[in-house]
Amino acid sequence: MDLTTRYLGLQLRNPLVASASPLSNTVDGVRRLADAGVGAVVLFSLFEEQLRREAAQNAALADAGTDSFAESLSYFPEAADADPGPRRYLSLLERAVAAVDIPVIASLNGCTAGGWTGYASALEQAGAAAIELNIYHLPGDPLVPGRDIEQRHVEILTTVKAVVRIPVAVKISPFYSSVGEMALRLDRAGADGLVLFNRFLQPDIDPETLTVSAQFGLSSPAEGRLPRAWIALLAGMRPGVRASLGATTGVEDPADVARYLLAGADAVMTASALLRHGAGHAGVLLDGLSGWMARRGFASVTDVRGLLSVPAGTDEAAWERAAYIGALQAANRGRGPW
Ligand SMILES: Cc1cc2nc3c(=O)[nH]c(=O)nc-3n(C[C@H](O)[C@H](O)[C@H](O)COP(=O)(O)O)c2cc1C
Repeated sequence: MDLTTRYLGLQLRNPLVASASPLSNTVDGVRRLADAGVGAVVLFSLFEEQLRREAAQNAALADAGTDSFAESLSYFPEAADADPGPRRYLSLLERAVAAVDIPVIASLNGCTAGGWTGYASALEQAGAAAIELNIYHLPGDPLVPGRDIEQRHVEILTTVKAVVRIPVAVKISPFYSSVGEMALRLDRAGADGLVLFNRFLQPDIDPETLTVSAQFGLSSPAEGRLPRAWIALLAGMRPGVRASLGATTGVEDPADVARYLLAGADAVMTASALLRHGAGHAGVLLDGLSGWMARRGFASVTDVRGLLSVPAGTDEAAWERAAYIGALQAANRGRGPW
């Protein structure tokens, strides 16, 4: 069974990727994920706010008259060890890359086109195989037009692309008026991959304690339907869409991996299921995927990928009003069954 796939121009041993989560918080965690069989690991995110904070601290140290930043660190080694931010991230990345033989993808999380994006080159130097850019942004100002926000997202991508040679994927949100157009804009602006979709922190209100809780809940498989529909649409536009397609959300069991591959994903990510069941669950997903492929007579992931993407030339009105079910049925009449 050939499970290999290409994602962001990288050759992966299989399409299952551990997406950004606390499981990649330590080298041991990354090693556990690799031992469980995943094709690649995305490290948890380094946030724009952490980078800004570090820049401010560096400036303060310089003002205080220390000779150089590196030297000042050696004066305060305990501070460097305790640092939860950028320096620890780079060190973790370097050690994780050395510890496993699968690609380790770094994740940068931000929403403004500031100097923090330059940090991407430090991630490249530390050995990241690629960068996943998580443009985490909930527009709080109702007066800012959507077009301005979209333009900023494209600019963030182009500034990061300008400073690295490694591939850059963008983890996008489903909350654009025209998700497809935005995906195409990012593709044309040089995104090597699009990861669908980012999942946002959605606080909730507890009516008993009269408090707002900010828990980041784990996903459920049904949430995979939205990203899957968009992946199917974008995959059907190949080669017009050049970027790799990464799927994230709702992968709980092997059938969910198969669903995303059939829609056209190049890589299928999982976080909630691994947090729920442990890193070893990756093995369950991969064994189940192989079993399903054998049962259905598929010899390779390439044979599976995109079989149920939206066929080119699909009537747009049919897609818009009834997702792509009717359009797909019409286009596939005479093809299959698989
Ligand atoms: C506890 C937790 C922490 C996460 N941290 C990050 C993060 O640092 N950066 C990021 O891009 N996504 C992060 N995510 C999102 C996941 O990478 C993933 O995209 C999302 O959970 C949907 O996939 P799933 O349904 O397999 O969980 C986190 C998710 C969880 C549950």
